[in-house]
Amino acid sequence: MASPLELALAEAADRFRRKHPKAAALHERACEVLPGGNTRSVLYTAPFPIRVERGEGARLFDVDGHEYVDFVGEYSAGIYGHSHPRIRQAVEEALRGGVNIGAHHAREVAFAEAVTRRFELDLVRFTNSGTEANMLALAAARAFTGRSKILVMKGAYHGGTLSFGDGPGPVNAPYDCVMAELNDVEGTRRLISTDLAAVIIEPMMGGAGCLAADRAFLQMLREECSSHGVVLIHDEVMTSRLHPGGLSAHFGVAPDLETLGKYVGGGMSFGAFGGRREIMRRFDPSRPDALPHAGTFNNNTLTMTAGVVGLTEVFTPAACVELNERGDRLRQALNGAFAERQVPMQAAGMGSLMTVHPLKGRLSSPADAQKGDKRLKGLLFLDLLDQGLFIAERGLIALSLAVTDEDCARLVAAVRRFVETRHALLMQ
Ligand SMILES: Cc1ncc(COP(=O)(O)O)c(C=O)c1O
Repeated sequence: MASPLELALAEAADRFRRKHPKAAALHERACEVLPGGNTRSVLYTAPFPIRVERGEGARLFDVDGHEYVDFVGEYSAGIYGHSHPRIRQAVEEALRGGVNIGAHHAREVAFAEAVTRRFELDLVRFTNSGTEANMLALAAARAFTGRSKILVMKGAYHGGTLSFGDGPGPVNAPYDCVMAELNDVEGTRRLISTDLAAVIIEPMMGGAGCLAADRAFLQMLREECSSHGVVLIHDEVMTSRLHPGGLSAHFGVAPDLETLGKYVGGGMSFGAFGGRREIMRRFDPSRPDALPHAGTFNNNTLTMTAGVVGLTEVFTPAACVELNERGDRLRQALNGAFAERQVPMQAAGMGSLMTVHPLKGRLSSPADAQKGDKRLKGLLFLDLLDQGLFIAERGLIALSLAVTDEDCARLVAAVRRFVETRHALLMQ
């Protein structure tokens, strides 16, 4: 017999089906040509996903005529909101100057200057995605140290081919990995030796549920990497937005290499890796022993132009601070709503990035976060969607600059209603 939670989920899924006939038809068509109707796994939601027709500011409009406040913010990449006027102007300007240039140009210089200044990198190289940036940072570390093993946190997500549970995921590139537990200072210290080429860590593990590393843990990694000649890589693809200089600056721990992605390219395809001159200069193509780094679109004019404008005119250090303060207020309000009715739920995270977990108590590692019942997240997702609020099914909320305090208040009110109407299920 179905449990009350399963019945509630089935009823919410039926409500969704009734309200989304056009998305259902499109899903059926999509399934004929895309496995599961999908070409980016994280976007799939049961029973089938909404189909968005257009976005505007902080709003999404779907093919079935519904309007949503967009709290997904393109999984942190959509910081500018949809079609920010200044970004659009920059892209139009880039289009006028020509795309697919196939040569060096001035825009990549300006962009590299903006990125290195903002994130305190000696040298930087651009890629087309965060996945590529991490793979190249790891390659640089291996070439620099002449070693091959890497140390990774359990539950880490560093890209499509760099995804980890207790070990490497099934479609990963074949790295020789040592797995460590986030925030386990002594256990991890014992794993760092002169066998390793690199330690890679996301200072707040976004994909694992917005779980922040302790400063002491990051400091330990820094000390042990320095004393064993291991390259410390901070994956800031998601977290660089949480402080004007990224989380490395917030924690006061400088990695040897840092990777960037998502919003930094102004909303265009983007990734970057950079850091210490003595490691990065190996990519200087005029050297006889240069490391190769290819990529047809690495310096594409759309990303280079939109990126500079985004970083220097729109997501300025002041805008970054304001956005993260809004996120802190939202997270506190959500946690207040959970605490008032004493339901075992919490919003974990920092600043403008957070994940709602159906769990109480401190979550110090991905293993803790895994204990929550995913079906409750599914129910929250469908209930919020029904009220015109779009969060990620896995509970992620990533604020864009277009989201207002009023939008946040609407989300808090809807979460309060969820806590009331689903109270019995949450307490089970
Ligand atoms: C921490 C982190 N690293 C790397 C990536 C991969 O970036 P991309 O999707 O651009 O390949 C992501 C993407 O979600 C990420 O969150």
